[in-house]
Amino acid sequence: MLSNQIISWYLQNKRDLPWRETKNPYQIWISEIMLQQTRVASAIDYFNRFLEQFPTISDLAKAEEQEVLKLWQGLGYYSRARNLHTAAKTIQLEYNGVFPDSYKEILKLKGIGTYTAAAIASFAFNLPHAAVDGNVYRVLSRLYGINKAIDSTEGKKYFQAIASETMGNAIPEIYNQAIIEFGALQCIPRNPKCDICPLLANCFAHNNAQVDQFPVKSKQ
Ligand code: ADE
Ligand code: SF4
Repeated sequence: MLSNQIISWYLQNKRDLPWRETKNPYQIWISEIMLQQTRVASAIDYFNRFLEQFPTISDLAKAEEQEVLKLWQGLGYYSRARNLHTAAKTIQLEYNGVFPDSYKEILKLKGIGTYTAAAIASFAFNLPHAAVDGNVYRVLSRLYGINKAIDSTEGKKYFQAIASETMGNAIPEIYNQAIIEFGALQCIPRNPKCDICPLLANCFAHNNAQVDQFPVKSKQ
């Protein structure tokens, strides 16, 4: 089964990253927001500093916006920091400072879209939501030869369904980390490492010499 192959690749190749050592939804949330536009290597320091200054949701909720923005300096996309702050205040007020534990409630928070909600729901609560980020679009489109545009409404819906199917009954938290890591380290955007890929025999893009044609986008 595909999910098992990806998980076994992951167990042998994964990096030790600080946010993989916690089940604390607040910490996972911070890491996922940082990772949206920041490379893993730079995110690690920011992640540690952020949690040192704001160890809990209520610390973040109580902070001045300027303090939050200052910690974000260098990461860019400052609306991410403002949204984090707003959502922390919401959690403090509406959920007594306890991070909500359902996908639907998580998705309502400011700055959290379907990917981030699925990531938090699975990593913190092991809920069966497939997290589909850029890595996952790339891996699935190549493996299955999916021609649908990843930036179209129809494409997004289709990939979400395929991602859920591929996850199957695998352990959600491990499967999601595994396929994201597979895209980040193995099935990389340019020159993926097909020669050492455990999925090579079943990979549409590789078998048809079309690796550089996936994923498909509607606008370039
Ligand atoms: N990119 C987004 N989420 C990630 C995670 N949990 N680990 C590594 N890279 C990621
Ligand atoms: Fe990606 Fe190549 Fe493996 Fe296919 S064979 S999944 S393109 S690394």
